[in-house]
Amino acid sequence: MKSISVVGMQWGDEGKGKVIDLLSVKAQHIARPQGGNNAGHTIVVQGTEYRFHLIPSGILYPNTKCYIGGGTVIDPTSLLSEMEALRQHKISFEKRLFISPYAHIVFPYHRQLDKLAEQAKGPSAVGTTGRGIGPCYADKAARNGIRVAELVDPELLKKRLDEVLPIKSKELHETLSEAEILREYVALGQKLKPFVAPVEEMLYIARKNHEMILFEGAQGALLDVTFGTYPYVTSSCTLSGGAASGMGVGPTAIDEVLGVAKAYTTRVGNGPFPTELSLDELSRFPDHSASREVGTTTGRKRRIGWLDLVLLKHTACLNGVTKIAVTKLDILDGLDEILVCTKYKGLDRFPATGLERVKPEYKTLSGWKTSTKQARSWKDLPKAAQQYMHCIEQALGIPVALISVGPERESSFWREA
Ligand code: GDP
Ligand code: IMO
Ligand code: MG
Repeated sequence: MKSISVVGMQWGDEGKGKVIDLLSVKAQHIARPQGGNNAGHTIVVQGTEYRFHLIPSGILYPNTKCYIGGGTVIDPTSLLSEMEALRQHKISFEKRLFISPYAHIVFPYHRQLDKLAEQAKGPSAVGTTGRGIGPCYADKAARNGIRVAELVDPELLKKRLDEVLPIKSKELHETLSEAEILREYVALGQKLKPFVAPVEEMLYIARKNHEMILFEGAQGALLDVTFGTYPYVTSSCTLSGGAASGMGVGPTAIDEVLGVAKAYTTRVGNGPFPTELSLDELSRFPDHSASREVGTTTGRKRRIGWLDLVLLKHTACLNGVTKIAVTKLDILDGLDEILVCTKYKGLDRFPATGLERVKPEYKTLSGWKTSTKQARSWKDLPKAAQQYMHCIEQALGIPVALISVGPERESSFWREA
């Protein structure tokens, strides 16, 4: 069975959770390589909405095994409340949810530092989710982090806190109480301990046995810490290349890269966005609640823009995308005209800097003005919607394999169908 890395091709929220859920019907293993509870992946099944932040979106299928990789950062309280939500939905995850001991732990001081950094940046704040993600990854790189392996061992946890807290106290200009943190985090560690497992070895064996692994990317290519719209990015590698290193498997464990792209573009938080809609255009677009463009994690309204083919060509290249999943086509159903950015004036490619100054050039396509929500195969799509898909395929030279026309599991179809 082929293993697939599923990645966002824009600025996150492309519908990766829904795509993972669809693919999970035939996968044995679903692995989350990076990020933390800054991510929010939404799945709608028979009217019930599930929101995942760290737990892989494949958990709803009872036969899957789900893994949280060494490249993630884990806020234990948040993860435990996700587990609790699953229990309330009567979804059992014991013996099929595994956490790598190499993942780093988000502490309250990381959230404090996140907030302080944002305040200090003032108008140039990143607009983070405030979950302490950046400071936690910074500590990891500075060798001041504390991992799951230490969290679950009270003695080791104390030793690491002895080493790290004086540094953090200095940064925060306050004395952090080790006793308080220790009391809370020893208890959290003991709750997570039964889930800690040698994830890297388990996936190695799965691969040897030719079992299908799905890598569930979080965020999107343009939030990548290296190749994204720096400094308006997250702090991890969000690309398919990072999926292997985040899980501790070799790059040969990935056979295909499924890039997920919204039929338009969105972004939450600050930073350049060339095709962002004008107020007038926005007034003709479905409103934020109808388009479900309210952040899953922070409840912020997402910024909305036209589809940007220059951007997609760039992120297809960064990820080595082999197939594309286009989501939220239905949101464009009512529009008279749909704009697609085909070029940035005077530029041959997506620039490494100065994106806020680029002038997008658009092709105007006529809308289909009919509902696609009930489409269950390619031939159900109106001609103009098919042409829209062709336009993406031609620009990128990559086939559109999956099309999504609603939030529900059944509102989507594979191109072959
Ligand atoms: P992710 O972070 O990439 O998993 O995406 P999110 O779940 O944060 O955001 C996507 C939002 O759009 C969610 O509310 C989904 O339920 C919803 N969604 C996904 N695919 C479709 C679609 O094809 N049509 C519509 N209308 N909504 C969709
Ligand atoms: P999913 O997996 C959309 C954005 C934040 C902010 C920037 C840095 O649901 O697609 P951080 O808290 O990570 O330091 O914030 O990254 N961001 C996301 N935007 N979807 C996400 O995840 C995001 N995760 C982080 O809004 O602009
Ligand atoms: Mg999301």
